[in-house]
Amino acid sequence: MDRFLTPDDLGKALRQDVADGLGTRPRTLPAKWFYDERGSELFEEITRLEEYYPTRREREILAARAPEIAEATGAVTLMELGAGSGEKTRMLLEALGGTLRTYMPVDVSGDFLARAAERIAEDHPGLRVRPVVADHERHLALLPGGERRLVVFLGGTIGNMAPAERVAFLSALRATMNDGDALLLGADLVKDERRLVRAYDDARGVTAEFNRNVLNVLNRELGADFVPERFEHVAVWNPGDEWIEMRLRSVAPQVVRVPAVDLEVEFDEGEEMRTEISAKFRRDRLDAEAGAAGLRIDHWWTDPDGDFSLSLLRPA
Ligand code: AVJ
Repeated sequence: MDRFLTPDDLGKALRQDVADGLGTRPRTLPAKWFYDERGSELFEEITRLEEYYPTRREREILAARAPEIAEATGAVTLMELGAGSGEKTRMLLEALGGTLRTYMPVDVSGDFLARAAERIAEDHPGLRVRPVVADHERHLALLPGGERRLVVFLGGTIGNMAPAERVAFLSALRATMNDGDALLLGADLVKDERRLVRAYDDARGVTAEFNRNVLNVLNRELGADFVPERFEHVAVWNPGDEWIEMRLRSVAPQVVRVPAVDLEVEFDEGEEMRTEISAKFRRDRLDAEAGAAGLRIDHWWTDPDGDFSLSLLRPA
C-alpha cells in the first residue's frame, strides 16, 4: 500500500485545523473530521434516510450511465478519491470491465482502505487493486499516474470545499491529467430550500448525531472536554453562497478545554460553530469553475428530477 500520509500527519493536520478554527471567531471546523469509525457509520445511516436524496440520486444516474461512461473514457486505470462508496464503485468496475486493469482507491484511513481493497480484489480476480493512503486535498501531485486514467470524486464531496478551494483542487488535479484522462464528478444541485434543509436535518436526528460526533473526535484525539449534549444541531441554507451550513450551537455559556493545542474555548449561549458547508451547484457555476481550472465539462448527466449531477470533465 502506498502511503503519503501517516497517522502522525493526520494528528498534526487535526491540531492545526482545531487551533485555527476554534482559536478565532466565528468558530469553524473542517467537515473532514466527521469520519472516524462512528462518523462513517452514521454517514452510512444518513445515506439510507428518506430525506437524504443525494446518494440515491447519484446511484440512479450511475446505474443509467455507467455504460456511457465506460464508452466515453475507455479507462485503464480507475482512481477513486475518498474511496469506499462500495456499491457505486462496483457499478463502475463492472461497466469498465472491458478495458480496466488497475483500481486505485485513495483515502486518509489506511484501515478502511485495506479492508475495502481486499473485498474488491476478491470479487475481481485479474484486477490490480492498489490502495493509496493520502489526503486528496494535499497529495494529488504525489499520486501514482496510470494509463488512460479515470479519476472519480463522487458523493458531492466537492461541495465541502469553498469556491477558491474547489478551483485549487481542480487545478491541482488537472495538472496531473494527460489528454485521454477524465474526471467523473458527482455534485448536488440547487433545489427547493425545504428539501435541502430536511436532507441535513432529518426527523430521526441521525444527522444531528453525526454533527455532534465531531466533538467526540476532538475529545478522543485531542483530550478535549466537549459535552456533545451541550450543543444543538443546526442546518441552514445560505442563499448567497448557495450552500448548506451545518453548525453546532452552544446551548449555554461554557468553556471547553483542548489540551493538545493548549486552547480554552469560550462559547456564549447561542454561539454557533460551523462544522460543514455543503455547496449545491448549477451547471453554469460548474462550467465556470472547471474552466478556471483548465477543464471542460464533456458530459453532463442528471436524474430525471434534476436533483443531482454527474459530469465528465476533460482537460480543456
Ligand atoms: C459526504 C460530504 C457529500 O455534504 O451531503 C451528509 C456529508 N453531511 N449529511 C454532504 C453530509 C451531512 C455529505 N458528503
